[in-house]
Amino acid sequence: MVTMVAFKQRKEWQPGEVDPLDLTKSYEPVAEPVRQGRLTRAPGADKIAPLPNQLYQGDTVETLNQWEDKYFHATITDPPYNIARDRKGLSWAFSSHVTIENEWDRYSSPEYEVFTAAWLKEVCRVTKENGNIFIFGSYHNIYTIGAIAARMDLRVINSIIWTKPNAQPNITCRMLTESTEQILWLCNNTNKKAKNWTFNYDIMKQLNGGKQMRNYWEIPLTPQRERVHGKHPSQKPLKLMERLMLCGTNQGDRVLDCFAGSGSTLLAADRLDRKWVGIERDTEYCAISHRRIDDERRQRRLPLR
Ligand SMILES: C[S@@+](CC[C@H](N)C(=O)[O-])C[C@H]1O[C@@H](n2cnc3c(N)ncnc32)[C@H](O)[C@@H]1O
Repeated sequence: MVTMVAFKQRKEWQPGEVDPLDLTKSYEPVAEPVRQGRLTRAPGADKIAPLPNQLYQGDTVETLNQWEDKYFHATITDPPYNIARDRKGLSWAFSSHVTIENEWDRYSSPEYEVFTAAWLKEVCRVTKENGNIFIFGSYHNIYTIGAIAARMDLRVINSIIWTKPNAQPNITCRMLTESTEQILWLCNNTNKKAKNWTFNYDIMKQLNGGKQMRNYWEIPLTPQRERVHGKHPSQKPLKLMERLMLCGTNQGDRVLDCFAGSGSTLLAADRLDRKWVGIERDTEYCAISHRRIDDERRQRRLPLR
């Protein structure tokens, strides 16, 4: 509740979105993305704590591997969907009229399982016990991720359905129009031991007009105004990321996104006073994230004196 009223309302922001205008703080430039050298530590040396509000450019598993245990209160992440396969016909058009054909999204099925198990194991290690882990997926990959989470005996809290009222029509007319994605909400503990995970029930109820929030969230595709710093083929809308952040994290929490893309999780965390840490492999996507967060801070905070 406190989080919501701390922000002034402006007309172009819809109910449920947090107004980014916060003139109680001064502008602090966002640090440039850094590469974490692989050979900076001797083998067997202690793990290190990542810097707060920092984007790391590099491979997720290699980078996480160097960080200390139980550092993050929560992880919110959107891994590759494994849909850019070589196949005949049209590739699957993603959320914003952009088709994913990138190398980062190309795996064989066994490779994808090995990759998913590797990063999820590392995410569980660096996230606190009973911390929340939110993972995005579509029907292409969410069952694989869910099966791996089940094998790890992780407690599923909810499966949230993000439904897109303005989804792109299916031009083949041979199937239903794909207009949803799932967000798997896990608690970082076994089914038996999971307890006391963060759930901001009252804030969610407030966002849903005083009724209990359901697990079916209707939120439009990423608007153009959120793409002015460059395009990412699977950029998530800030309204969705803010809702997740408000649902499962608290002010001051350390939040990880280990597949940061264009920085939507990181920007939502920055707006809502969480300490964010991101990992992203691609130089251009790192640059987009940096521009987005820095530009917004510059606009919404008091100028440097
Ligand atoms: C689905 S996108 C995330 C999009 C993000 N949620 C946004 O709103 O912009 C997945 C991202 O993971 C990155 N990626 C894929 N494999 C990676 C790896 N092994 N290490 C680090 N980043 C990786 C891709 O470059 C891509 O930007």
